[in-house]
Amino acid sequence: MSTRTETEGIDLDDPKLSKFDIVREGARQEDIEIVHYEPQFPVPGTKAERRLVRTVALFFLVTGLAATAFLAVYIWWPWEWKPGTGADKVFTPLLGLSLGIALLCVGFGILTWGKKLLPKEVSIQDRHEGPLDERQNKIVGNTITYMADELGVKRRPLLGISLLAGLAPVGAVAAAPLIGGLIQQPHKNNQMFTTGWHPNKDGLIRLTRQDGTPIRPEDVSPGGQMTVFPGIEDGVSNKHADSPTLLIHLRQEDADTARAANDRVGKDAFMWGNYIAFSKICTHAGCPASLYEQQTNRLLCPCHQSTFLITDNARPVFGPANRRLPQLPLTVDEEGFFVAKSDFTEAVGPDFWERP
Ligand code: FES
Repeated sequence: MSTRTETEGIDLDDPKLSKFDIVREGARQEDIEIVHYEPQFPVPGTKAERRLVRTVALFFLVTGLAATAFLAVYIWWPWEWKPGTGADKVFTPLLGLSLGIALLCVGFGILTWGKKLLPKEVSIQDRHEGPLDERQNKIVGNTITYMADELGVKRRPLLGISLLAGLAPVGAVAAAPLIGGLIQQPHKNNQMFTTGWHPNKDGLIRLTRQDGTPIRPEDVSPGGQMTVFPGIEDGVSNKHADSPTLLIHLRQEDADTARAANDRVGKDAFMWGNYIAFSKICTHAGCPASLYEQQTNRLLCPCHQSTFLITDNARPVFGPANRRLPQLPLTVDEEGFFVAKSDFTEAVGPDFWERP
């Protein structure tokens, strides 16, 4: 039986072989028939070719400049609203403009390169099964080297340099939000790891209404609930959009059930009396879960109907959410107002990470 290892073929060490002969043989071993092959520039180094190379290089260099501009705006541009400056208004358009130019130019560069500089080729390949043997691998390796030559990076160094200069900043653009958000966070410390409930230099954070007034236990009647916000500057603003929390005053029997459920998962000190508080940010896609049904102690998210059982640590019992709502540990300060003992101990909303 004839196998692909036994295929007769060319002598790879034959000095008379051109690179194209090796490629043709590599293609043949892969059951590929090259039916048409036509280099765009049979004589390398012509004026037209050099002009095209410069055009492609220019696209890549503009890509690099635009991507660098994106990074500069992202890191240094004043994005926060300040009266009279208007700088915040152009922050997002500048990001969009610079990124748009970068992506457009990298696209044009690659298209021009592929369409005008690469050889025109039509090949037909039959299906086959099984991996390549050693000899075939060697031929394919030679083919890849040849193709790299044909891409022109080797004999057109300007292309390689400009490609690097253009694509490196584009890579940095992709990494910038991650690095900025997780490590450096140019605009706010640890924003991705904490919420507005994180204790600050003044101590524990009070639970407040939308108007900023603090809340005493007697302000919420049994069976009642209230949306609360961290009592800090901008606690009710979009800056702390991850912080809205539902404070619920459970009836005695429900509170006992919730306490037992808390005990089972090591959150025995999270409730204060019969009061319990959960993040309002749905763990499915971040909508506010705010439809509380006090008879069943279920909290419904209106977006996709995820339902959380409050008396069982806000366990999802229906809908697409598959993670509990994080619970805010509660206590009361010396003046009798509710405070958060600490920040949430789990990720809020659709999680990108889980706290231990
Ligand atoms: S965001 Fe709440 S169910 Fe989808």
